[in-house]
Amino acid sequence: MNMLPEISRSMLKNSLVLGLFAIVTVGLVTLIQQATATRIEASARDAQVRALGEILPPGSYDNHLLDNSIQVHDALLGSRSPQPAYIAMKDGQPNAVILQAIAPDGYSGAIRLLVGIQADGRLAGVRVLNHRETPGLGDKVELSKSNWIQSFIGKSLNNPSETGWAVKKDRGEFDQFAGATITPRAVVKAVHNALLYFDQHRAELLVAGNATADSDSALLDAAIGHTPALPASEGDSSGPDDQGTAP
Ligand SMILES: Cc1cc2nc3c(=O)[nH]c(=O)nc-3n(C[C@H](O)[C@H](O)[C@H](O)COP(=O)(O)O)c2cc1C
Repeated sequence: MNMLPEISRSMLKNSLVLGLFAIVTVGLVTLIQQATATRIEASARDAQVRALGEILPPGSYDNHLLDNSIQVHDALLGSRSPQPAYIAMKDGQPNAVILQAIAPDGYSGAIRLLVGIQADGRLAGVRVLNHRETPGLGDKVELSKSNWIQSFIGKSLNNPSETGWAVKKDRGEFDQFAGATITPRAVVKAVHNALLYFDQHRAELLVAGNATADSDSALLDAAIGHTPALPASEGDSSGPDDQGTAP
């Protein structure tokens, strides 16, 4: 009896089963990857919305910050890629700006911040959006771990003076953490740089608030060289700034 055709049939059948199994597995992995990416994006956006809502005093603005943003980029903000600047309005007047800034020189890489600045140049608040600093050491920049980040409230370019914008170990006014100077040093420098950026672009940023409120942002972006706003999830790609993960 010739067994060959039967063996060939069996091999063919096994190959088909294996092929089908591979296709289903790849499909499932792709689906899971997509679902996870969407969830990560949504939770990053939620974290951003929460942080934005915490920085400015309640009632100090009456617009939707995510809908009233432009994209800006400048070395002082620590990134080569465009970053969102959110303009807070009250009764049709711009009264604060929240800049996204990056401290590139944290202990474990970039630390992404939101820096809220009132129209008069005083800091409304600062929050860390993401970082990879060491738990128990550098992670005290998170409000959930310590109140250190609140020490920026009310400060401005002239308060403290230029030399005061440093940690105490560098003869400045801001505390460092026990055994961790690098992280707070990086954050103090990034916040100071964000204030310098605001000082240099104050008029443009505040005018941009009016223009975006009037849905005229594309025209204004073209006029002052800003990149038009992207949804928050798309606006933060590439550059030295993307090494952080959500805390
Ligand atoms: C495992 C390990 C993790 C560390 N993580 C941090 C950190 O997240 N942030 C930080 O500022 N320093 C961290 N340090 C301490 C720094 O190496 C450094 O000693 C400290 O920041 C003091 O810096 P200074 O010499 O500039 O004052 C860590 C040290 C070790 C050994």
